[in-house]
Amino acid sequence: MKFLAPNSVLWTLSALVLAAACASPVLLAQSRQAPNQQLASKQLNARVEALLKQMTLDEKVGQLAQYSVDSATGPGASNLKYDELAAKGQVGSMQSLVSAEATNRYQRLAVEKSRLHIPILFARDVIHGHRTIFPVPLALAASWDPAAVETVARFGAVEARADGIRWVFSPMVDIARDPRWGRIVESAGEDPYLGSAMARAWVKGYQQDDLGKPDSVAVSVKHFAAYGAAIAGRDYNAVDMSEIVLRQVYLEPYRAAVEAGAATLMSSFNTINGVPASADPFILTQILRKEWGFDGMVVSDWAAIPELRDHSIGADDATVARKALEAGVDMDMVGDLYGTVLASQVRAGKIPEAVVDEAVRRVLRVKFALGLFEHPYTEQGPAYDATPERRAAARKVADETFVLLKNDPVEGLGTLLPLTAKAKKVALIGPLADNQREMLGAWAVTGDPKYVVTLRTALVERLGDRLLYAQGCELLSGEDANVIKRLNFGGPDAADDHVPIPDDAKTIAEAVETAKKADVAILALGEPTNWMEGEASSRTTLGFTGAQQQLLEAVAATGKPVILVVLAGRPLELKWAAAHVPAILEAWSPGIEAGPAVADALFGDVNPSGKLPASLPRAVGQEPLYYAQLPTGRPARGDLSHLPRNGEEKFLSRYMDEENSALFPFGWGLSYTRFSYSQPTVSRDEIPLREVLASGHNPIATVGVDVKNTGSVAGSEVVQLYIRNTAASVSQPVRELKGFARVALAPGETKHVEFTLGFDELNFYNVEIERAVEPTTYKIWVGGSSLAAAETGLKVVE
Ligand code: NOJ
Repeated sequence: MKFLAPNSVLWTLSALVLAAACASPVLLAQSRQAPNQQLASKQLNARVEALLKQMTLDEKVGQLAQYSVDSATGPGASNLKYDELAAKGQVGSMQSLVSAEATNRYQRLAVEKSRLHIPILFARDVIHGHRTIFPVPLALAASWDPAAVETVARFGAVEARADGIRWVFSPMVDIARDPRWGRIVESAGEDPYLGSAMARAWVKGYQQDDLGKPDSVAVSVKHFAAYGAAIAGRDYNAVDMSEIVLRQVYLEPYRAAVEAGAATLMSSFNTINGVPASADPFILTQILRKEWGFDGMVVSDWAAIPELRDHSIGADDATVARKALEAGVDMDMVGDLYGTVLASQVRAGKIPEAVVDEAVRRVLRVKFALGLFEHPYTEQGPAYDATPERRAAARKVADETFVLLKNDPVEGLGTLLPLTAKAKKVALIGPLADNQREMLGAWAVTGDPKYVVTLRTALVERLGDRLLYAQGCELLSGEDANVIKRLNFGGPDAADDHVPIPDDAKTIAEAVETAKKADVAILALGEPTNWMEGEASSRTTLGFTGAQQQLLEAVAATGKPVILVVLAGRPLELKWAAAHVPAILEAWSPGIEAGPAVADALFGDVNPSGKLPASLPRAVGQEPLYYAQLPTGRPARGDLSHLPRNGEEKFLSRYMDEENSALFPFGWGLSYTRFSYSQPTVSRDEIPLREVLASGHNPIATVGVDVKNTGSVAGSEVVQLYIRNTAASVSQPVRELKGFARVALAPGETKHVEFTLGFDELNFYNVEIERAVEPTTYKIWVGGSSLAAAETGLKVVE
């Protein structure tokens, strides 16, 4: 932290805080509030200290170990004697157990048999619901509705608690700007502002600002840090970025989650600028603990500590375990190192016991805050069922996540969507039209496909024998399809080694015949979510898998109007479809109510209102593609997707064979109605710099706009505010999202929407790595996507 002279043109918030500290250090101490009051409470910490004093070294390191029983979400799995360890009080946490009975069994050993009766913390990947599966996180981000995310977290928490789980490995808040990375599905997409809003909502929904409530669970914010920036989108790959980008973009959602009170974080697999994140004191101690004041616990990702050997930062177990612990990883997830090598290292004088003590403190703090000591067991409740209440919640959330990408009129028919009586016979075609498992999406580890209602089932209910159906093809072709059938996860052919290789030509021909008999064809296409999305599921192409593209083109060639429903957890490359198909609905992986929710959107019972949380590319070669790019000295304007023509500039930042822009940009999404925007106005044209800096987190200006529904049906619009800092000491993105609001409007209705701006929205990281605001002009746009055209501005003056 550097002090800058008061008359400097450049002031930073840290400089002001330091100035305040010089005048009154006591005030500074008082004003520094712990982000999670429960973890910081004196009473709680007194209990922690009293317990810590009684613990042997072996009991201490045991609290730092997490084991997985029965199931694995990574290579290898622990194979120790869990009963014995639990009874000795040497199991800090267990993951993968999913029932009151199974968790209570181990808990009894820990609480009743162990010397100090310290309960085990049971954890699980609860990602987009536990048993009631909601849309995947990327889809939830497309709702731009933090309240929807809170709902999903609430259902997840309640159902997880019923299964004995008190700690969820969620939310994933990694910024994902490259859809080759399969884990983009678990993210909120490409933007730090939207990502931070979603991160806060997840934490609130799971923890309810009170870990001790009977239906709260502790979160594990993951994967700290910058895991989403893996080079070339290849999972687990290295991350290399400037500290400015790290802080201004990638760390923001983690910071938001910590400020919202997150109890734990998970360290990531990747290196950052050469240092493995799971052994990085800069990330785990300097930034997380010292700068952000985090009092909770950090768990490693699955076997990330032994993998430090593969990162070549230590040749043996003892070295890498020490490096991880000293950097700030408190618990070893399934690595079998903390529990086995730390104690001897302490005895040999290689690790100070105080370092172990500090990690144990953090673990115990979370256990006490959760009320685990008072309520270690889970009462056996009724068996799960997808009740009408749960279905209604899943459907309501899904309704908000669909993004209408395109809805062009077709000659003689008008727009195809919403579907009404204009279609007497409807052909439903595609490998995702009637596949229950696929609708759950990636990371639905406790979800049961039997609860899913598919699009085919929902449309049969609406249309009866007016619905024709053909699968068209498998999700994968040739031997790949065979492999996936065998591996995939409980399908009817799972045990069959002799599944015939699918005959795409034949099934596509059948689908074409089906389409010919109908007035309109709905194609439900995507990619295999459980096999090609989520962890270890990177791709180098982003098209539909298998023969789906051929299927789409063959059906389109019949001349029947086509509606494309895209069911996938990553931005797919839709260039052909966008050029040839009149209506496209991005429906992601919608969860158990997939069919009814998509049908509602297709028939207009629900008006689509989602907006893209990630840019959809024209070609995979554009990736990483995101709207908030830095400007270049040689910007290309317009469509330059060709070799330069006569008189046209060659030396511009562009591709010779493709446009720079996204096919469908961030924030994009149409509606069955239309919205118009008034000219936005700012409450003041100029603000003195000093006022901005003194405002802290308080707003200093407002931006207002009137939004009108000019169409004939009700709809919701996500109103978005973007800024551009036009003259800073460090080059700033061409646009940055700094506000959004979801507004429901009846036909003809106008609502006034107001956004606030202050230091939080206007600052950036300068070269000193301080959050700064300088004299400048901000351009401001308000509208329905990142292409928003209605413009105003704001000056910050000396
Ligand atoms: C590895 C994944 O990276 C992480 O997200 C997950 O929570 C753990 N495995 C536990 O399953």
